[in-house]
Amino acid sequence: MRVLIINGSPRTKGNSSRLVEEMTKIFEKENVEVDSYQIGSKAIRGCMACGYCYEHNECVFKDDVNDLAKRFEAADGLVVLSPVYYGSANGSIISLLDRLFYSSHFEKRFKVGAAFAIARRAGTTATFDELNKYFTINQMPIASGRYWNNGFGRAEGQVEQDLEGTQNARVVARNMVFLMKAIKDAKEKYGLPEKEEVTYTHFIK
Ligand SMILES: Cc1cc2nc3c(=O)[nH]c(=O)nc-3n(C[C@H](O)[C@H](O)[C@H](O)COP(=O)(O)O)c2cc1C
Repeated sequence: MRVLIINGSPRTKGNSSRLVEEMTKIFEKENVEVDSYQIGSKAIRGCMACGYCYEHNECVFKDDVNDLAKRFEAADGLVVLSPVYYGSANGSIISLLDRLFYSSHFEKRFKVGAAFAIARRAGTTATFDELNKYFTINQMPIASGRYWNNGFGRAEGQVEQDLEGTQNARVVARNMVFLMKAIKDAKEKYGLPEKEEVTYTHFIK
């Protein structure tokens, strides 16, 4: 069992990283392999809607996204963390997730998702919603927490003082392990739900 953690923060010792550590402790205790990736200061550009991925099943840009797609395919669950910038997820993580989800066409159904937003003061719930949408439009069940999936702090490491936030990170990790195990068993017992040919309807007359 494996989980991929994608941290959008540029700060390698930042508050998002601190929550990653908190979750990793639980995953490792539960014998879940952790594959951790942080954007850091890498330049991850946005999707340019070129359509290259329709035929090539990968993004035209040769940065970390295509490698991450392989790592995502090999994982049973995906955790995404983002610092809040101007009331939403930071630009780098959105650029990465748009391209990761759009350019890869492997089966994402029933991989478990979990999202966290980290802020000094405000914007966490909007960011949480923004991140969860990648999961919900891909038939990925969400591991929820005991309250809001956020952490508060400004300077690096301040989130450690947010005891409720760090505790919730551990709760989500445990819930995620449970869901991943349950889904694995259910897949063996029942198989995945029947898949229909997709019908695309756009907003045209
Ligand atoms: C460009 C920028 C915009 C930010 N906008 C917000 C914001 O809208 N709301 C907020 O509460 N904090 C905001 N912050 C503060 C960060 O969310 C906060 O420092 C957080 O702990 C960063 O997480 P990290 O340490 O994982 O990078 C902003 C920080 C930066 C650099």
